[in-house]
Amino acid sequence: MIILGIETSCDETAAALIKAKKGDKKVQLLSNIVASSLPIHAQTGGIIPENAAREQVKYIIPVIEKTIQILKRPENEIDAIAVTIGPGLIGSLLVGVETAKVFSYIWKKPLIPVNHLFGHMYANFIKSENNNDIEFPALALIVSGGHTDLVLIKKHGSIKWLGGTRDDAAGEAFDKIGRLLKLPYPGGPYVEKYAEGIKNDVYNFPRPIIDSDDFDFSFSGLKTAVLREVEKIDKEKLSNETIKNISYSLQKAIFDVLIKKTMKAAVRFGVKSIILGGGVAANQSLKKSFELEIENSKLKIPFFVPEKKLCTDNGAMIATAAFFNHKETDWIKIQANPELYFD
Ligand code: KG4
Ligand code: ZN
Repeated sequence: MIILGIETSCDETAAALIKAKKGDKKVQLLSNIVASSLPIHAQTGGIIPENAAREQVKYIIPVIEKTIQILKRPENEIDAIAVTIGPGLIGSLLVGVETAKVFSYIWKKPLIPVNHLFGHMYANFIKSENNNDIEFPALALIVSGGHTDLVLIKKHGSIKWLGGTRDDAAGEAFDKIGRLLKLPYPGGPYVEKYAEGIKNDVYNFPRPIIDSDDFDFSFSGLKTAVLREVEKIDKEKLSNETIKNISYSLQKAIFDVLIKKTMKAAVRFGVKSIILGGGVAANQSLKKSFELEIENSKLKIPFFVPEKKLCTDNGAMIATAAFFNHKETDWIKIQANPELYFD
C-alpha cells in the first residue's frame, strides 16, 4: 500500500509517500518534500505561532502537489492519508488536518490521525543504510525542540511512557542557550558546529538529575549556569573560542544525561534495541557518543538513528507511524489537539 503523510505541527510544511506491504518490518520512502519557514523565525529569534500558521497555508498545497507528482494517478494509487493531529501549534496543525480531510473526502481514502511524537520514533522504521531489523521491546529516546521522552515500545501499538522532561526539552535548551551566545535560531545545529574539534570540557556544567531514580530530565537549570558564565564575560569579548568551549561543555552536559538515563532504562527493561528520534538526534556527536557507550557496555544491542533529514519534522515519519499503527478514523472525529501526549 501507498500512504501519503502530512506534517504541519510547527514550522515545517511536509508531505511524503511511503510504500509497504503487510508483514514488512520497514517501509520504503518514495518521495519526501519539506518546506521550512525557519528563515522567517530566525529573523524574530524564535517562532511566532501566527507567522508559522500563515506560512503553512502558503506552502501546504504546493508541497503536497510536489510530493505526489511522482505518481501517474495519485487518486488511484494512494491507499490512505496520514496526518499529524498533535502535539504542536494549533494554527499550524489545523492547516494540515483540514487539508488532509479534504483530500480524504474528495479521493475517498481512509484518514489516519498520527501523534507527532510517534512519528519521531517511527522515522527509524524507514529503510536506510542500516537495514537491521528493530527488535522489540525497543527503547525510544525522543529529543526534539518541544519534547524529551523515554518510551518503551513493547510491540507496534503497545507503548509505555517511562519519563520525560520536567521543564525544558533538550532542543529547547540548545535554542535558548544559543540565543544567550548570540547564535542564530535554532541554536542546536550551531552549537554542534561550534563544539566540533573541542576536546576539553572546560566549563563542566551541571548534569541535572543524572542520578535520580526515575527516567525524567530537567534542562532549564543549565540555562542559568551558562548565563552565569556569560555574565562574567564582557559581552563584546564573547570570543569565538569561548563560544566553542561553552558549546562543547553544554553539549557534553546534555548528552551525558540523555545517555545515562537511556542506558539505565535499557538495562532495567531488558530492551533489544535502542532508537533515537527528533531534531536533536540529527546531532552526529550524540550519535557517536551513544555508539561508543553501547560498545563499551555489556549491552551489545543494536542502535538506530534516522537519516539526518528524517530526524527533523517530515511527512515520511507520519506515514510510517500510520502504517504500523493503522487507526483509520472517520474524518468528522479527527481534530487537531495541540496538547496531545502519550495515552
Ligand atoms: O523535531 P524537530 O524538528 O521539531 C520539534 O518537533 O520540536 O526538532 C527541532 C529541534 C530544535 O530545538 C533544534 O535546535 C534541534 O532540534 N536540532 C539540533 C540539531 N538539529 C536540530 N540540536 C542539536 N544538534 C543538531 N544538529
Ligand atoms: Zn518534531
